[in-house]
Amino acid sequence: MRVIIRKTYEEISLLAAELVKSRIEKKDNFVLGLATGSSPLGLYSALINMNQKNLLSFKNVKTFNLDEYYGLRGDHPQSYRYFMDVNLFNHIDIDKSRTMVPDGTTKNLEDFCLWYEQQIKNSGGIDLQVLGIGSDGHIGFNEPGSPLSSRTRLIALDAQTIEDNSRFFKDKNQVPRFAITMGVGTILEAKEIILIASGKKKAQIIAKAIEGPITGLISASALQIHKRCTYFLDEDAASELNRIDYYRFVEEAEGTIGKEIF
Ligand code: F6R
Repeated sequence: MRVIIRKTYEEISLLAAELVKSRIEKKDNFVLGLATGSSPLGLYSALINMNQKNLLSFKNVKTFNLDEYYGLRGDHPQSYRYFMDVNLFNHIDIDKSRTMVPDGTTKNLEDFCLWYEQQIKNSGGIDLQVLGIGSDGHIGFNEPGSPLSSRTRLIALDAQTIEDNSRFFKDKNQVPRFAITMGVGTILEAKEIILIASGKKKAQIIAKAIEGPITGLISASALQIHKRCTYFLDEDAASELNRIDYYRFVEEAEGTIGKEIF
């Protein structure tokens, strides 16, 4: 696992964008896994900037989002489809028919979830998955207790997540209680993963996820078994880590040998 730490959120967002760009440039028909929430917003605005300056094209990119609130239509302002359109897709040269977000209004959940997984497989699998982390350690909406082998499915949101996400709704009662999410097992099948976290509020859970034991009670801890995972952290989010000196040393060594060390 790589842990990249910079003073500010802006710096880690730019570095994450450089990584995404370099990966997209290397492969035709790139499959990009995406997250919503505050954490990837800096990355998305950097990618928009690159696209608008003709430094990066999304014409051959296909995307899969991690999750969607159950019960919200794609035109609901708090739906994740709406979020993605407004914060990324509307501003880049991507073919919208190649942007996949789980359908929060599906009537046949089981078939839909199987279908979503199959779409990922048919596309050749996710080349790079972008993640944020919930304050309870969730990735996607895999709340504590999610099986580490879980697949795309309906999940009941944890009280902490409802509290955290109520900032986007008029009040807490309007936050949906359920979501469709890729499973931890689905996420771990991505060929590469990056996780972006910023702010003191994430410091404790980041330390547990990176330096604590792997446990189903902290879904992000499962990333420890992934072969190619990079954390992008600002100093606040990294502030409870014990091995910061080592992570900085590894990054320096990468500079020396010109190669990423996972
Ligand atoms: C959203 C998602 C979630 C968020 C997490 C952190 O698609 O998958 O796991 O990444 O809740 O949210 P923020 O970034 O708003 O703190």
